Amino acid sequence: MKIAIVGCGSRHKMFRDSIADDYADKHEIVALCDSNPHRLGEAAKALAKPSTNGVATYLAEDFERLIAEQRPDTVVVATPDFLHADYIVRAFEAGCDVICEKPLTIDLTRLKMIVDAQARTGRKVQVTFNYRYSPARTQIKELISSGAIGEVTAVDFRWHLDRVHGADYFRRWHRQKENSGGLLVHKSTHHFDLLNWWLGTVPTAVFASGRRAFYRPETAAALGLEGRGTRCHGCPVATKCDFALDLAADESLRNLYLEAEGADSYFRDLCVFDDEIGIEDTMQAHIRYASGVTANYTLTAYSTWEGLEIKFQGTKGDITHRHVEVHGVFGGTRAHADADAVTTELHLAGQMPRLLEVPTASGHHGGADPVMLGYIFDPEGMTPDQYGRASDHVAGAWSILTGIAANASIETGSVVDIKSMLRSRGIKLEH
Ligand SMILES: NC(=O)c1ccc[n+]([C@@H]2O[C@H](COP(=O)([O-])OP(=O)(O)OC[C@H]3O[C@@H](n4cnc5c(N)ncnc54)[C@H](O)[C@@H]3O)[C@@H](O)[C@H]2O)c1
Repeated sequence: MKIAIVGCGSRHKMFRDSIADDYADKHEIVALCDSNPHRLGEAAKALAKPSTNGVATYLAEDFERLIAEQRPDTVVVATPDFLHADYIVRAFEAGCDVICEKPLTIDLTRLKMIVDAQARTGRKVQVTFNYRYSPARTQIKELISSGAIGEVTAVDFRWHLDRVHGADYFRRWHRQKENSGGLLVHKSTHHFDLLNWWLGTVPTAVFASGRRAFYRPETAAALGLEGRGTRCHGCPVATKCDFALDLAADESLRNLYLEAEGADSYFRDLCVFDDEIGIEDTMQAHIRYASGVTANYTLTAYSTWEGLEIKFQGTKGDITHRHVEVHGVFGGTRAHADADAVTTELHLAGQMPRLLEVPTASGHHGGADPVMLGYIFDPEGMTPDQYGRASDHVAGAWSILTGIAANASIETGSVVDIKSMLRSRGIKLEH
């Protein structure tokens, strides 16, 4: 495939390095595109090979010229979330397929644009739900599909973002709903996709509550951070702030963001306690599914530890899965786990609970990223995927609909019926 990558920030590196290092015999990156000339140049430098002209680079306004000159087969979209739909539609119209970072998009207007363009052009988008590919999550899929606990009837799902990783969503574009859809879309798209995929069903109704309880000026005041600046860089109280992110101290952050600020004033280290933040940090939802299953879901972004806890109740028993995750450190000086810890317990009615052996793999996101990349870039080289882990626009859509409905429920205080919501916008989800 001839591949163009749009959005050359932190996440694009996974695709760029994978194609260039692991799949260079099969695919070629023919162009890079970004609105920021510095990040664009740095991404091109990383791909540079001696005695070649290097990869072609295009600023965002030249995307149509990129398509005309480089004729990519596939466009990888790794821009901020609110821009995904626009690039997907333009790529489809130009005859390209798309590999899109999660979430597919952030609202119903943009979802309709994608669904209509897909129907019009017949092109494909794969949404990169890496969590599906982690061995521990695949094991859960296998257990549920094999009927190990009978029919699943109820789920309790809690996802904890800690004060290192969770805080990072409050520093930059994610912190406004118009950019990310809020955490119930931006982050929970992974979790709601896992539920849809594990349970083999789709959501029908959502009732949710959410508020910003921690990342707000009152917390800064309680922490003694009077006189804080609007960002960490140059902040007079940075040395005593446990949430400070020092962009200058980390080579990769300095290069990718601090040195790129001149072109677009994209500040990576805005104060996490700003009044102007528009997303919630404490969210709970009750979800009904087409199959009859019901689920309770909690997401917090200032927890003492990072990871997930889930219990599936079934007619023959239950499964309890817990994963303490370790993430890259984004600022602060807090203690956190130094190794992942995963447990999955199967408890069948009338028997003692049994701790299962959980398979592991190496690589980012619990070994998920390399497996997913293998299926995307070398499907013939992989064993046929019996778990149906690849996600198209329909799976991508269902994964954001729970969060979009939850956002609407938070706003109105009512239960949101997803079928009516889709009908009111003329959105038809068919493969
Ligand atoms: N699956 C995962 O685990 C995972 C992890 C991290 C990020 N992501 C996703 O990857 C995407 C990118 O996130 P990130 O952390 O790399 O963000 P980032 O801010 O580091 O990078 C985004 C890049 O897009 C560029 N950009 C902005 N406007 C543009 C435009 N109009 N045209 C072209 N480029 C433009 C920015 O200059 C920047 O280089 C997001 O959708 C995010 O949700 C997924």
